Amino acid sequence: MKTIRDIDVKDKTILVRVDYNVPIKNNKIESDFRIRASLPTLEYLRKHGAKKIILLSHLGRPEKPDKSFSLKPVADHLNHLMGNVFFTPDLSKSALASAVNKLQNGQILLAENLRFNPGETANSADFINSIVEATKADFYVQDAFSVTHRAHASTIKIADFLPVYAGLLLEKELANLDKATKNPSHPFLLIIGGSKVEDKSPLITKFVELADHVAVGGKIAADGYASNNSKIYVATDFDEDSTGKKLDIGPVSTAKIADLVTDANTIIWNGLLGYAEDPAYATASTIIAELLGEKKDATTIICGGDTTGFILELMNEHEHLDYTLISTGGGATLEYLLSGTLPGLEVIAS
Ligand code: 3PG
Repeated sequence: MKTIRDIDVKDKTILVRVDYNVPIKNNKIESDFRIRASLPTLEYLRKHGAKKIILLSHLGRPEKPDKSFSLKPVADHLNHLMGNVFFTPDLSKSALASAVNKLQNGQILLAENLRFNPGETANSADFINSIVEATKADFYVQDAFSVTHRAHASTIKIADFLPVYAGLLLEKELANLDKATKNPSHPFLLIIGGSKVEDKSPLITKFVELADHVAVGGKIAADGYASNNSKIYVATDFDEDSTGKKLDIGPVSTAKIADLVTDANTIIWNGLLGYAEDPAYATASTIIAELLGEKKDATTIICGGDTTGFILELMNEHEHLDYTLISTGGGATLEYLLSGTLPGLEVIAS
């Protein structure tokens, strides 16, 4: 797969697909993790003399223009992080062309939410071509790993109009996920938690072949997930509330998973081990997260929205914690782990 390092970006106009689908409440960004994760690519493009950088993203799932899904707060935040970032609220060809014309060398323009136009999710050639023509872009950079499981105009159809190259975030996600799944250093441990057994059991089925151990906690275990495969360990004791609801795995199970973590050289963790929104039931997740974050020579991969959110908060409190990859993908990461490819990756130049 070719990346931005394979092209000469000097004096070029570059369209970059980022994923700024971030939580926003009252115009305030609640987690800027995905925004910060896009910075290495943007800094690289600026450093190597890109003339104009135009960013495309979606936010939420609006089917028509809706101010509550505007990317304006994200543009303000990105401007605060990098400077020289502008925003255009209009995706029409003429408005976009005029905003691009005004850009000076090295400046960045974030365009309004792609999903304000139904052409995005419909994978429309007309829609994405109007963006290409308005911007007069030379190259397209796909850096929104977390949306490459969608067959949309900005992930698929774009390749009919511009050569597509991988950005540095996408490259980092794939390199780490591939290393862990295709060439893992053993022992290899998969930790599964969370609540949706229908989402997680395909992962368990696939990884029981690749991994040395699969540890299952969270609501799935509390709800009685069972296996007679000797590689699969399912939590056996639980912390309960006063009504008998099992809300965290107990000390015996936590110690068993901690032992597996200590011995492992590759660990993928998806899904919290208890109802960690309530600190009273975050004990097991905290113990395992700290143990993983302190492992120095192992490959440690965190994925799934709830798990990454939990880890990022813990890292704010404990700066020494470090992980090989905190994946920006939710559904995309799970699908990639399961199938080893995604529709939006297939169109990247090779
Ligand atoms: C995500 O948050 O997982 C991605 O941005 C994809 O969003 P979607 O599920 O609305 O396509």
